[in-house]
Amino acid sequence: MTEAMFTDAIALLKADHRKVEQLFAAFEKARDDNRKQQLAGEICTELKIHTLIEEEIFYPAFRGKIEDDTLDEAYVEHDGAKLLVNDIEAASPSDNFYDAKITVLSEEIKHHVHEEEMPSEGMFAQCRKTDVDLVALRDAMMARKQDLLEKSKQDGLPPAKPVAVKLALA
Ligand SMILES: [Fe+2]
Ligand SMILES: [Fe+2]
Repeated sequence: MTEAMFTDAIALLKADHRKVEQLFAAFEKARDDNRKQQLAGEICTELKIHTLIEEEIFYPAFRGKIEDDTLDEAYVEHDGAKLLVNDIEAASPSDNFYDAKITVLSEEIKHHVHEEEMPSEGMFAQCRKTDVDLVALRDAMMARKQDLLEKSKQDGLPPAKPVAVKLALA
């Protein structure tokens, strides 16, 4: 992966969105449990890394510069997805509800991606109107993404941590 692949931070995030959409589409077609498990693992790793680089680097850069509601809702939507990501990672394709969890996760992500990418009102459209350096932000996110990818290959990533939503589990 080279920096020349993405013109700026938003191009990088949109490429991540397209990748995970392809993985969800492949899961929908998969019939074999091993293949499902492998695709689900990739989906969860991609989403964990993507939500981390957005929450650690991208979103904070725009606090005070775009609508607070847009950013706040994004964190809450991420937290909703993390619940399913962690659950799916701990489950196996033969478990009850497995396919339903992937389907619902894909619907949640679809909604969230729309909120980020939608023209004029969306988060990225708002971000483009600010003075934030999107190229510097791309470089910071690429570096962090590289770290997280290596970590995921070595010992795996820890479960995704909610930021905004408190989980009260019995
Ligand atoms: Fe995103
Ligand atoms: Fe996001």
